[in-house]
Amino acid sequence: MRGSDSGHAPHHQHSSTDALEVALTDDVLVVHGGAPLEGRIRVRGAKNLVSKAMVAALLGDTPSRLFDVPKIRDVEVVRGLLGLHGVKVTDGVEDGELVFDPANVESASTDQINVHAGSSRIPILFCGPLLHRLGHAFIPDLGGCHIGPRPIDFHLQALREFGATVDKRPEGLHLSAPNGLHGTKFALPYPSVGATEQVLLTAVMAEGVTELRNAAVEPEIIDLICILQKMGAIIKVHTDRVIEIQGVPKLHGYTHRPIPDRIEAASWAAAALATRGHVEVLGAQQADMMTFLNIFRSVGGEYEVTDARPPKLGDPGQEGGIRFWHPGGELNAVALETDVHPGFMTDWQQPLVVALTQARGLSIVHETVYEQRLGYTEALNSMGANIQVYRDCLGGTPCRFGRRNFKHSAVIAGPSKLHAADLVIPDLRAGFSHLIAALAAEGTSRVYGVDLINRGYEDFEAKLADLGAHVERP
Ligand code: EPU
Repeated sequence: MRGSDSGHAPHHQHSSTDALEVALTDDVLVVHGGAPLEGRIRVRGAKNLVSKAMVAALLGDTPSRLFDVPKIRDVEVVRGLLGLHGVKVTDGVEDGELVFDPANVESASTDQINVHAGSSRIPILFCGPLLHRLGHAFIPDLGGCHIGPRPIDFHLQALREFGATVDKRPEGLHLSAPNGLHGTKFALPYPSVGATEQVLLTAVMAEGVTELRNAAVEPEIIDLICILQKMGAIIKVHTDRVIEIQGVPKLHGYTHRPIPDRIEAASWAAAALATRGHVEVLGAQQADMMTFLNIFRSVGGEYEVTDARPPKLGDPGQEGGIRFWHPGGELNAVALETDVHPGFMTDWQQPLVVALTQARGLSIVHETVYEQRLGYTEALNSMGANIQVYRDCLGGTPCRFGRRNFKHSAVIAGPSKLHAADLVIPDLRAGFSHLIAALAAEGTSRVYGVDLINRGYEDFEAKLADLGAHVERP
């Protein structure tokens, strides 16, 4: 293991050989912490919409055009998969514009598709579109962040409801729909984002009407519905999480500018708070971040929303965004619970917890979306934070994980002075929280496996430089 300026041994959240292998590579960022982040950065299209919008292009019989696509690894993975399925993906005229031509959609060989096995969870969403276009689909073993078991049982149950047969083999899933796909009435056991998207992408061209109850209604899902509607779909969003889709025989391409990445925006906001800094996030949109903004204000952070103004004669216009800052003085402890929309997103939790280590008193975080998303707090404790995790549902509503042995509630006692450490990044969002902690801590930290952050944060090293962070590659 490499030496460390801080004198601490690299801290491993889990003993997986994956993390150790990553730790031993040169994929390390040296972070000289203790300085506030100050400046302005921009967020582009939401990772968790853009990747699904790319899959939707498979359903059209004419080309689609997507703007503001961030340069992140998840986009590259989906681009590669679309290419393997005969969708020609080209860069458009505008920076961040992608054009998808589905004219030659064809089955790819299992070997080729397996190249992408383990690198993303998006392949599962190819099922519906491929079943419509080809009558069969192959989905390799799924990857994505290591945050608990992340099963796909809801996806498979939904596909079977539509009439697909699923054959599980060691190399992956083979699906077919010899008699086509038919509309169905279906209720999700939990409002899963991915399973709702699966149903949408399948139902739009299934014969007849589909009614999905207990659907997820995240802004990214509503934006996907907008895209499908542009393509010719008929989708009604009723009250109480009910979505009704009337299948149509044919869809055409779309042109779309996606909603901005509210997870990235909140991550930088939390970084501003934790480092006592001031960060303007251009592109951040208030409507999709209301729950985050309420908590940010309760903690003691301040923000100002700037509405976008289109250019007019004699007025260059203005790009909208949100300015986040630490007003000085002490932060307040809060109690919060992660939840499906419109609740506090599970992906906002990890960056904010770093800021909560600086708040006076006891903060409580109850994670109700994933059963194992608090492991990263061990790394924060190794830096001087005081965080205890519990199996109980603390601070409010009992959730699915209560009394089931999952440590899914955290109590954060603060304020704690954070000191530098050597850290190994375990997954995307926890990774960003490690980075924020290193930036907030006194001294020099080494953050191993930082490349994982490129999965979901565009140009994060350039953005850190724009915000005046003292980071370097050794
Ligand atoms: N679940 C099941 N069975 C299923 C599907 C989900 O039990 O078949 C459970 C999951 O285990 C989890 C819960 O349902 O406990 C919610 O999972 P969901 O399906 O909503 O998550 P996802 O679609 O796999 C997306 C985002 C995640 C984000 C969640 C929740 C993408 C590519 N990923 O995942 O984002 O945390 O929704 O909002 O859209 C990230 O960006 O870092 C990330 C992990």
